Amino acid sequence: MDILSRAVQVRSAVNALRAEGKRIGFVPTMGYLHEGHLSLVRIAREHVDEVIASIFVNPTQFGPGEDLEAYPRDLPRDCDLLVKEGVRFVFHPPPEEMYPPGCVTTVDPGPLAERLCGAERPGHFRGVATVVLKLFEILRPHMAVFGQKDAQQCAVIERLVRDLNLDVEILRAPTVREPDGLALSSRNTYLSPEERKAAPVLYRALRAGEELVRAGERAGPRVQSAIQETLSGEPLVASVDYAAVVDGRTLEDLKRLRGDVLLASAIRIGKTRLIDNIPLDVGEE
Ligand code: PAJ
Repeated sequence: MDILSRAVQVRSAVNALRAEGKRIGFVPTMGYLHEGHLSLVRIAREHVDEVIASIFVNPTQFGPGEDLEAYPRDLPRDCDLLVKEGVRFVFHPPPEEMYPPGCVTTVDPGPLAERLCGAERPGHFRGVATVVLKLFEILRPHMAVFGQKDAQQCAVIERLVRDLNLDVEILRAPTVREPDGLALSSRNTYLSPEERKAAPVLYRALRAGEELVRAGERAGPRVQSAIQETLSGEPLVASVDYAAVVDGRTLEDLKRLRGDVLLASAIRIGKTRLIDNIPLDVGEE
């Protein structure tokens, strides 16, 4: 497998593949790979001839005081895992390759970026949208796979593709979980053993909301309270950034549930911020 660190190298590798008529799938990541990331690669494989992954801890999507420096990294292990999945190229640029001095243009993803995680992390989705657009331009994939685990990120990327007429198909991959329900995340490594035991409360809370909806509840605030109550029952939950019942596409709060609904929450356990969500198709009233 080739680890490419320069955009021009990726361009010529991709041009060669395209000249052979190959379809290219792309899985962008920040590394420290787990089964969630690998599931994206497997889904991509089903649709294309070659899968390219990127590993880049993107500084522009981290706010001041966030975990940019502490973010876990293990390139050799990541590459081993990707080789086993049949990935031919990994793009692993140094920060100055993506953001050379004087680079000032950014992508403003609009109101979608201000809700949910965006309220807590101003500028985060601007950083995500900007780096993903740059990666799409460098790799020119036919399709790219993103995890439902980061539902707001999916919504922002889908909006980016529509609004800027990008010629790439976006697939959402289901969230991969531990047996106790905790969504896999590179940040789970920050949890102490005691915090790790408490962490599944996030998914349990969302499931409590889901059960209400499945039993026929259509009032958004009631479903939201059920999620909140379950979270409040766990003493190790230091704060609830949000527990929300929103429209899956616009991410706007829903008073009455219909259509594409997202139950989403972000909490802090100790210093670790965890997010999760459950998408539901509620149908029409
Ligand atoms: P990262 O957090 O490394 O995640 C890379 C991809 O893996 C994202 O699409 C994310 O949604 C997906 N993913 C993470 N955990 C998952 C799980 N448990 N199940 C399924 N998919 C999961 O998301 C980013 O990096 C960055 O913001 C990036 C898109 C690379 C831009 O910098």
